[in-house]
Amino acid sequence: MQSSTAIQQNTFADDVHRGLSAAPKFLSSKYFYDDEGSRLFQEIMKLPEYYLTKAEFEIFSEQTKEIYAAFEAETGAFDLIELGAGDGTKTSLLIDFFLERQAEFTYVPIDISAEALKFLTEKFAKQFPELSIQAEQGDYFRTLETFKSKSARRKIILFLGSNIGNFGKAQAQDFFKGLRAVMNTGDRLFIGFDLQKDPRTILRAYDDARGVTAEFNLNLLARINRELGATFNRADFSHYASYHPIDGAARSFLISRKAQTVFVKALNESFEFAAWEPIFMEISQKYMPEMINELAQASDFEVVENFSDDKQFYVNSLWQPAEKTE
Ligand SMILES: C[S@@+](CC[C@H](N)C(=O)[O-])C[C@H]1O[C@@H](n2cnc3c(N)ncnc32)[C@H](O)[C@@H]1O
Repeated sequence: MQSSTAIQQNTFADDVHRGLSAAPKFLSSKYFYDDEGSRLFQEIMKLPEYYLTKAEFEIFSEQTKEIYAAFEAETGAFDLIELGAGDGTKTSLLIDFFLERQAEFTYVPIDISAEALKFLTEKFAKQFPELSIQAEQGDYFRTLETFKSKSARRKIILFLGSNIGNFGKAQAQDFFKGLRAVMNTGDRLFIGFDLQKDPRTILRAYDDARGVTAEFNLNLLARINRELGATFNRADFSHYASYHPIDGAARSFLISRKAQTVFVKALNESFEFAAWEPIFMEISQKYMPEMINELAQASDFEVVENFSDDKQFYVNSLWQPAEKTE
């Protein structure tokens, strides 16, 4: 596993600087997952309100055979690359089935969180002693560039857990175009999309009754305090979630409960907050089924097959590079 703590630390500081200097202020959700953040996210996934994990788990457990067939996993060796792998709970269902079928593959989980990757690789080493794993720590935007040179084998790329929801629509298209550029004809991309549904169901998933999602957001302030020497007082911020049914986006904010100044030692800079000023933390874009086709087309892919849960809450969509029409 490659590690570059110094570089990452700079990137984290730079990103915090950029976010807290902007109007409106924002923090990047990719930094949620330190040790405590990864633990809290595992708790979120078990909450009754967080239907996303249950829906994707249902698809993976009940349609494993169909997914395996659609991947054409029997046609030869491949790399199973997972972007933002997290704790890999759903992926373990596929891996179990693939190993049983003696598919020839290496699992390549990529995650920005060293803590999440450590947890995942230790868990999988115990659970699947015969599995070949090549974990990579880093931002998947950066590791994209090295994809082509990585191996000549077929690539099946997983992007699960509605990770794509954390991108705005234009950013999602740019991201997939970037992926398309490093994929060959036989490669496949398997993406988890959360669908638009009763707005109340969506809002509850980001504003649970026990306040675990609030803790998860506030934990990023604690991380900035610890790693960048900041003076955030968590009690002076509160979590606020919204869902907008017109643009299909759930958004999370931390709201400054009073006028206050926060000093960040690593930046040697203070940041002013007005009373009730928001920090934008995360977008979770929800999709209509036709938006998935449009996004695939706009990024030069074709939809091979869609897999949905019983309630039609969620879709795992399998894409292949579109034939070039020159
Ligand atoms: C919402 S969790 C989903 C985890 C897993 N895919 C699942 O379905 O349960 C997002 C994961 O993506 C990782 N992540 C977020 N942004 C990333 C980035 N830019 N590069 C690499 N990993 C990232 C986080 O560290 C976290 O483990």
